[in-house]
Amino acid sequence: MSVVKTLGQFIIEKQKDFPYAKGELSRLLRDIGIASKIVNREVNKAGLVDILGEVGTQNSHGESQKKLDVFANEQFISALTVGGECCIVVSEENDEPIYINSEVSPNAKYIVAIDPLDGSSNIDVNVSVGTIFSIYRRLSTDGPAQLKDALQNGTEQVAAGYVVYGSSTMLVYTTGKGVNGFTLDPSIGEFCLSHPDMSMPKDGYIYSLNEGNYVHFPQGVKKYLKYCQEEDASTNRPYSSRYIGSMVADLHRNLLKGGIFIYPSTASAPNGKLRLVYEGNPMAFIIEQAGGRATNGFKRILDTEVESLHQRSPIFLGSENMVLKVEEFMREYC
Ligand code: AHG
Ligand code: MN
Ligand code: MN
Ligand code: MN
Repeated sequence: MSVVKTLGQFIIEKQKDFPYAKGELSRLLRDIGIASKIVNREVNKAGLVDILGEVGTQNSHGESQKKLDVFANEQFISALTVGGECCIVVSEENDEPIYINSEVSPNAKYIVAIDPLDGSSNIDVNVSVGTIFSIYRRLSTDGPAQLKDALQNGTEQVAAGYVVYGSSTMLVYTTGKGVNGFTLDPSIGEFCLSHPDMSMPKDGYIYSLNEGNYVHFPQGVKKYLKYCQEEDASTNRPYSSRYIGSMVADLHRNLLKGGIFIYPSTASAPNGKLRLVYEGNPMAFIIEQAGGRATNGFKRILDTEVESLHQRSPIFLGSENMVLKVEEFMREYC
C-alpha cells in the first residue's frame, strides 16, 4: 500500500534544499494551504450558502467583485496575518498593498502576491476556479516593509503555486526545484502528494484562448490560430481548442497534457488582461520549472520589469515548442 505523504510532511522534507531556511517558508506554505482548505469548503457548497453572486462593489480593475472573491481574499489575508511569516500581501482585490506590521510579525521576511479567486466569472455556473500565489523574500532590512519589497521581478520569486478547485482540489507549487502537485483528501483534510515532479510535454495539441477577441488579436496570433486549425496529420493538426475562462484550470490541464494558453494584447487591453504580479509571474515560474516556456510573445515573462502592482502583460504560456512557434509568427509582424 503506498504511503500517503502530506503537503506538510513534503515541505519539511524539502526544507533541507534550503540551508538558510529556518522553517519560515515552510510555515508560510502551510498557512496558504490552510486558507485554501477553507476556501475549498465554501466553493464546494456554493449554492447552498450565501456565497454566490455579486457583492455590488468593484475592484480597482473595474471588475464586479463576487462574494467568493471577497471571502477568499479575507481568508488568505487573515491566514497570512495570523501566520506571522508575511510582511506584505499584494492582492488582486486590494488596490494598495496590505502591510502586516503587527507585533505578530515584526521580523516577517516574506511578501505574498495573490489572486485569491481566479476565474470568478465561473463561480455561479459551477465551473472550476482557482487561487494563484507568488512569494518573494523581503529586500528592506530595517523598519517596516516598503513598497519596493513588493515590486520585484518574477525571477526573484522564492516560491509560487496555485490551487485548482475542480472535480478534485489540487495545490501545485514550486520553490525553484521542480513542480509538485497535491490532491486534497477531504476525509483527512490534508493535501496529499499525487503528482510528484510534474513535467510539461514539449509538444501539445491543445490551444487555449478567447477567440471572441479574434478581430483584435495581433497578426502573429491570428496566423498561429490559423496554423492550429490547418489539416496536417504529420503534426497532429488541427489541434483541439479548450478554453475554460479560468487561467488556473486551463493552465493545469495544459501542464498535464501539453498545450498553450494565450491571453494576448487586444484593442481594449493593449497589455492583455492578465496581471503580471499575481497571475503572469507565478504561472510563468511554475511552467518554466515544469519544462515549459513563458513569454509575452517576445520576451520571458519573468524578466519583465515590475513597475506597478497591478500592471498587465500579454501571456503566452505552455509547451515549449508551441510557444516557440507562435513567437516565430509574432516576430514576423513586429
Ligand atoms: P480573475 O477571475 O482572477 O479576474 O481572472 C480571470 C482571468 C483568467 O482567469 C481567465 O483566463 C481570463 O480572466 C478570462 O478572461 P476572458 O473572459 O476575457 O476570456
Ligand atoms: Mn478578477
Ligand atoms: Mn485571475
Ligand atoms: Mn481573481
